[in-house]
Amino acid sequence: MKILGIESSCDDTSAAVVCDSNVIEERILSNIVSSQIDIHKEYGGVVPEYAARNHMSAIEECINNALDEANTNISEIDAIAATSGPGLIGGLLVSTVTAKIISITANKQFIAVNHLEGHLLTSRLCYRIDFPFLLVLASGGHFVFAEILDIGNYNVLGQTIDDSAGECLDKVAKMLGLPYPGGPAIEKVSEHGDSNRFKFPMPLLRRNDCNVSFSGLKTAARLLIEKSSKEDIADIAASFQLAVINAIIKKSKKAIDMCTSNIESIVLAGGVAANKLFRLKMEQLSYNNKIKFYAPPINLCSDNAAMIAWAAIERIKKYGYYSSPITHITRPRWNINEII
Ligand code: KG4
Ligand code: ZN
Repeated sequence: MKILGIESSCDDTSAAVVCDSNVIEERILSNIVSSQIDIHKEYGGVVPEYAARNHMSAIEECINNALDEANTNISEIDAIAATSGPGLIGGLLVSTVTAKIISITANKQFIAVNHLEGHLLTSRLCYRIDFPFLLVLASGGHFVFAEILDIGNYNVLGQTIDDSAGECLDKVAKMLGLPYPGGPAIEKVSEHGDSNRFKFPMPLLRRNDCNVSFSGLKTAARLLIEKSSKEDIADIAASFQLAVINAIIKKSKKAIDMCTSNIESIVLAGGVAANKLFRLKMEQLSYNNKIKFYAPPINLCSDNAAMIAWAAIERIKKYGYYSSPITHITRPRWNINEII
């Protein structure tokens, strides 16, 4: 089975061809990502209207390149999968409408994929991981702890009550005068900084749940930046990065305890999962709790179409046949516990 995946929910236009081979290394036949970072950098964040227009102009070439690199053509593809939410409405329309048009003209199944499901299943594309597992999803738009019991059976244990982790890193990076996207910029500057120099308040520590909050950390960073000088940037970045990660680690321990099933692994997902210190600290936590640890390869942590194609494959494998109605509407808001 070969699936064409299309992703354009935020600032990356991507198309990929993925197959269901048992040999993991042979699954991704192509994964073309055309980043819009250079366009949005100038504005310090994603401008939705520009993003949508650029997706429109980039999508056809991405798809052609993905098919070429996979050495295939549309007649050999079994289904077209597209991100249909959550995300920016303009971008979601580009991926969804493009996939629908191809599926109608080529007479193939259309599969609407939830972007978060794409992220959360990425590690299963790259490693053999059984259900149930504890998901820690940290992206630019979402932060969620969920017990992943099976495809479509997601028990949300906690989430952010304000910003997502990535959003918070992006905003503080901007305050520090660092380029967009802020997460990788903070990580890079932190290499030269002292992460113990500044202390940040630990959010929601006394609450007996695994909800997290990042906006207090952001405010503390703003106050610190206002009274600091340029020489402090690396130390602030390193201390702040550590505070965000520690806040997640503390609540991850709680999330492990809240799982109702015997989870065997902790699985990271989303753009922030590319952060090396975050991966290291989560690996240590997993080791201390005698749980296996997985994170996607760095290049598959941020948005890509291979994860969208793979999510469709997982659904087809589970149900034997899986397809979405051509009338399926895009959903800018589509929570993980609303996926069925
Ligand atoms: O999953 P993603 O590519 O897009 C969304 O679905 O939102 O995540 C993007 C987020 C951005 O906030 C970006 O700053 C963050 O992931 N990010 C990182 C790193 N790479 C990307 N955060 C920390 N360290 C990184 N290396
Ligand atoms: Zn994403």
